[in-house]
Amino acid sequence: MSIGLDRNALAQQLDQLVDGLAEQHFGLVDNFFTGEEVDTLLNEFEAYQQQDEFKKAGIGQQDDFQVNKKIRGDHIRWIEESDTHLSFFAEKIRTLIDFLNQTCYLGLKDFEAHFAVYPEGTFYKRHLDQFHQDKNRQITILCYLNKEWTEADGGQLRLFFPEGENEKTLDILPKAGRLLIFRSDKLEHEVLLTHKERYSIAGWLLDKPKTLSFLA
Ligand code: OGA
Ligand code: NI
Repeated sequence: MSIGLDRNALAQQLDQLVDGLAEQHFGLVDNFFTGEEVDTLLNEFEAYQQQDEFKKAGIGQQDDFQVNKKIRGDHIRWIEESDTHLSFFAEKIRTLIDFLNQTCYLGLKDFEAHFAVYPEGTFYKRHLDQFHQDKNRQITILCYLNKEWTEADGGQLRLFFPEGENEKTLDILPKAGRLLIFRSDKLEHEVLLTHKERYSIAGWLLDKPKTLSFLA
């Protein structure tokens, strides 16, 4: 019974995500991850932090530390198949992939994702997520893990939409349980200066299996 209800709620969320993607270039749902799931993700986050598994994130081929720091200040830890505590996460993302393939014919095959922590005082300047040399990334997914986050905490995700000669922006709070999806090759975005440590999972839905990405 309760599984039936959960399935139904998930089906509605998937509809909402795809409608958003089709109509306004991004899809957003709250409570995609339950409070309990957010806690599990935060616990894993903390364990990996304690094991010193987070590394300063890079930007494409660029590995100049000083240049990097002016562009992005997050530390990341990639999610791996062997992270068995996170199988519920992978399962939900695979459900999303199947749904996008059925409804939008995207031909998605796989995903990659990492935990990201933005220490206080960091940001990620405006960018696109698809690299010129590797067009494997089709859809960006962002899962937020911050409880009780307010405007005053900063760290909003700013989305940029071209509108003729002008552009429009929209700022989104990185609230726990929230999931955002958009086209990795189309939507420019940035993470505004955060005034508190900020936790998220950033992922990409891929049009090739991860193991074949060297063929890109
Ligand atoms: C990224 C990114 C945004 C966020 O990792 O490419 O844009 O809100 N992250 O964490
Ligand atoms: Ni990005």
